[in-house]
Amino acid sequence: MLETVKYLIGSTGPAGYGSKSTAEQVTENCRHLRSITAIITGATSGIGAETARVLAKRGARLVLPARSPKAAEDAKARIVSEFPDSEIVVMVLDLSSLNSVRNFVAEFLSLNLPLNLLINNAGKFSHQHAISEDGIEMTFATNYLGHFLLTKLLLKKMVQTAKMTGVQGRIVNVSSNIHGSFSGDVIRYIWLITRNKSHYDATRAYAFSKLANVLHANELAERLKQMEANVIVNCVHPGIVRTRLTRDREGLITDVVFFLASRFLKTISQAAATTCYVASHPRLVNVTGKYFADCNEALPSKLGSNSTEAARLWSISEIMVSRDFKAVFDSFNAFD
Ligand SMILES: NC(=O)c1ccc[n+]([C@@H]2O[C@H](COP(=O)([O-])OP(=O)(O)OC[C@H]3O[C@@H](n4cnc5c(N)ncnc54)[C@H](OP(=O)(O)O)[C@@H]3O)[C@@H](O)[C@H]2O)c1
Repeated sequence: MLETVKYLIGSTGPAGYGSKSTAEQVTENCRHLRSITAIITGATSGIGAETARVLAKRGARLVLPARSPKAAEDAKARIVSEFPDSEIVVMVLDLSSLNSVRNFVAEFLSLNLPLNLLINNAGKFSHQHAISEDGIEMTFATNYLGHFLLTKLLLKKMVQTAKMTGVQGRIVNVSSNIHGSFSGDVIRYIWLITRNKSHYDATRAYAFSKLANVLHANELAERLKQMEANVIVNCVHPGIVRTRLTRDREGLITDVVFFLASRFLKTISQAAATTCYVASHPRLVNVTGKYFADCNEALPSKLGSNSTEAARLWSISEIMVSRDFKAVFDSFNAFD
């Protein structure tokens, strides 16, 4: 109850920010952003677009990959019209396709740009069951597996950049508090929704993909520590805001739900604040493997904190992106 009141009045936590802080406020003193290069996925709309706008305002060089070149150009044009000096590269990336992720990374690496910041923000809520071109359930493929491969393929560049510049690299996974609603066996669930349409529930699949984002950040943080890499990774819940995420469910019922929940909704600028805070605030140097909400450290779900599940998900993901799908299906068959 107290937490709800604090949220509604926007009271600030130990970080000095709260639910009503905006992305511009939390980056006000981040002058170091002038020297960084950031990749932000899903910057064509919603939270990612505002994150990109504010980081551009603070002087960061941006790489904005999107599945539609036109949407990416439009996103760039909007930012450049407001900040004409901003340096923005747009590229093609469809996160639901492992091939597209590989092509994007090859193209990005050919540009010889540094990489200080990776914001894994893109996401979808898929009302209908669908299978990606790689044969994997679409929500999981887009929200998690594409970002898993993207991060894996960019990690060497991030570690090198951090070494050369002395600036700590940062990775931010945009998750959601809804991850806490998922219970069950992580690996078995991927298999069930990939194999069998009748097991698909859109909200559960979305919650599961957001849990995977949390487990990914936790396991990656451990691996980066072992590698002694000067790169941190954290996860955020942006808060609830009306964006195109619900595009599959537009209509009167959605309008009514958002109307009833309106007191709890954030503005886009407030929803981008936690991402921008975790991506840039000097206070978070060396802070890794944590979960943030309303710009303050928070607790993920019990399953989200489970290091054994994080390691299991990592192992199966390595196999899923390894082009050797037979091995994946053989391991899944253990559940049949
Ligand atoms: N809105 C909320 O209340 C809320 C709450 C908690 C967490 N989140 C998380 O916040 C993140 C941003 O969501 P949002 O609310 O800003 O939604 P949004 O307005 O729908 O933005 C989603 C972005 O992801 C991109 N995207 C979707 N599928 C993609 C694919 N296959 N490949 C590349 N990009 C793809 C979209 O690009 P296109 O232009 O191509 O569609 C768009 O730029 C998501 O991870 C979401 O899960 C949102």
